[in-house]
Amino acid sequence: MKVLIVGGGGREHALAWKLRRDDPQCDLLAAPGNPGIARLGRCVNISATNLDALVTLARAEAVTFTLVGPEAPLEAGIVDRFRAEGLAIFGPTRAAARIETSKRFAKELMLAAGVPTARAQTFTDPAAARAEARRLGAPVVIKASGIAAGKGVIVATSLADADAAIDAMLVDNAFGSAGAEVLVEEFMQGEEVSLFALTDGTRVLPFIGAQDHKRIGEGDTGPNTGGMGAYAPVAIASEALVREAVARIFTPTLRAMREQGCPFTGLLYAGLMLTADGPKVVEFNCRFGDPETQALLPLMASSLLEPMRTIAEGRALDDGAALRWKPGASVTTVVAAAGYPGTIATGDAITLPEDGADVMVFHAGTRMLADQTLVTSGGRVVAVTALAPDIRAAQQASAAAAARVRFDGAQMRRDIGWRELARA
Ligand code: AMP
Ligand code: GLY
Repeated sequence: MKVLIVGGGGREHALAWKLRRDDPQCDLLAAPGNPGIARLGRCVNISATNLDALVTLARAEAVTFTLVGPEAPLEAGIVDRFRAEGLAIFGPTRAAARIETSKRFAKELMLAAGVPTARAQTFTDPAAARAEARRLGAPVVIKASGIAAGKGVIVATSLADADAAIDAMLVDNAFGSAGAEVLVEEFMQGEEVSLFALTDGTRVLPFIGAQDHKRIGEGDTGPNTGGMGAYAPVAIASEALVREAVARIFTPTLRAMREQGCPFTGLLYAGLMLTADGPKVVEFNCRFGDPETQALLPLMASSLLEPMRTIAEGRALDDGAALRWKPGASVTTVVAAAGYPGTIATGDAITLPEDGADVMVFHAGTRMLADQTLVTSGGRVVAVTALAPDIRAAQQASAAAAARVRFDGAQMRRDIGWRELARA
């Protein structure tokens, strides 16, 4: 078996780690990969969006299947390209990836299919958008319809803030074409949970819930980031809640995608808000979440490789199959570069703690120099996952190992999983 992993972040390192566990004989290739992945397989210096070069590589290496990490190659149509060439690939087509890449598409699909989500309308005219914000009243949520690097959502606590966000997107083009269309959306209240499901387009294999920590500061303060940590399991994402999400969210969404002629296969990520009226969708992503993947995969007891291969090869998942999970808790602490999420420093030498039986260091923004010095090369540098019998011990072990990651200006949160600890 030979698998090509497209991408080079912490999520892709965790995927490589898990596939290697599932099949120690599996040959791994990654494009472009990173120095952590390079210890598990061969990295080829091809960018994740260079589709021509990726097709050539997959063919030359006769890979069993290709697995796509980030959304950019999915939006660029990598799955359509590979399938047209007869190459097996795990991920949605470009049309199916619109569930993430077009908030308008996702919202219209959900509202038509009766999937619980906040009501929203789409506008290109600023005056009409402002009028809708007034009709809903503050707080109100303004979203750029396209992919805006995670910055296209403004939760406006006043109408003045809502107007400013509408003007920034529709008048000043602050988000370029991603903000040429805005959604004005009802505000929802509740705790957020990330729920992933593997799907062949019809059947779903749900994961357990995880929770991301988007703010830079402890206690969820300060600016938003790509994610400073994650943990699993989440007590409020009970088995009953997951069953409800499969029945009321995943199944009808997948049916609607099939009916629209763009069946979704791969990994569907539902960002849920657990409201007083039950779980509602905040957003869908068409790929694994980062850093939730780094927390979830070490807890997974059953094979990921097997259902992924089934889906990539266009076969149906077994009816009644389920993923299995280890007991205990997982906490992932991200160590970020100085200045993150603003302008970051790069090129600083890194020293890392060794992996242990229950501690995994996943590389994200690292680079190996010719003289074998490991240096920082991105905002989120590494993600350190610890498994332990309970959330408190997992948090302590993850934070202690992350504190042993050394480079100039390293930043981390020591409170990943704090909501779960408050419940415990
Ligand atoms: P998104 O990019 O759609 O995931 O939105 C980013 C964040 O904005 C979410 O994780 C929520 O915290 C918040 N958010 C998005 N939509 C809503 C909403 N309708 N009500 C309240 N918060 C929201
Ligand atoms: N953890 C959020 C995301 O991957 O989009």
